[in-house]
Amino acid sequence: MRIEVDSSSSRFLNYSVLYKEEVDSTNIWAKAVAQQGGPEGTVLLADAQTAGKGRKGRTWVSSPSHSIYMSLILRPDILPEKASMLTLVMGLSVTQVCRNLLDLDAKIKWPNDVVISGKKVCGILTEMCMQGSAIDYVVAGIGINVNTKEFPEEIRHMATSLSIEAGREIQREEIIKALFWQISSNYEKFLKAGNLEILVEAYNKVLINKDREIRVLDPKGEYRGIAAGINAKGELLVTKEDGSCVEVYAGEVSVRGIYGYV
Ligand code: BTN
Repeated sequence: MRIEVDSSSSRFLNYSVLYKEEVDSTNIWAKAVAQQGGPEGTVLLADAQTAGKGRKGRTWVSSPSHSIYMSLILRPDILPEKASMLTLVMGLSVTQVCRNLLDLDAKIKWPNDVVISGKKVCGILTEMCMQGSAIDYVVAGIGINVNTKEFPEEIRHMATSLSIEAGREIQREEIIKALFWQISSNYEKFLKAGNLEILVEAYNKVLINKDREIRVLDPKGEYRGIAAGINAKGELLVTKEDGSCVEVYAGEVSVRGIYGYV
């Protein structure tokens, strides 16, 4: 089933959309296009992926006709250590679209999973390529479960879709168009500040972990604490049980709720 989205000029970014019915992974495709000079704002969109990539080497189930699989090429003039913040920019953008366009109570599970009713509806995989010591390009891959009715057994307890939550079919095109505008607006704010400073308040408002007890799965040892929100670097501020406050960097750890995924 074809997704019809035109190239558009959206506030800050000029989008040009490339579409395929089926691809291995829109992130792999985006990296190939970027290597050949594909400009910032190029969107690679597919109806299905045969080798959709998730975080931490996982696969992203990507069957046809019901979901959004898209990757966006960005060429930000920022230090490489700031590129991980773009993942939070994308997560916030998807959450805002779910809330503003569909009136769904979407939240972010730090750093960038979008959840509704405690279940994941969107995942984001950001990949960066360097040229010398500078960023050549960043590919932001976004997978959104839109009209998915059934999930594989192993993820059924923690996955949902926009249509399940809204109780109606959702046009993928309307989500993608709204997302273009929202990403563009948030990306502009991110580049202006050089960090997440302008977006922190909006992010913390929809952060599902905020003021909740969480488990921090640190390779050096798991600990518990209360999440206070993110800082301008996108780190999660956690008050530990002994009263000390730590800044948790997403690259190293993941967080869970005390009783499960959130
Ligand atoms: C996660 O594990 O939560 C991240 C999932 C990211 C999936 C998207 S779908 C579009 C893009 N292409 C990929 O191969 N992965 C990302």
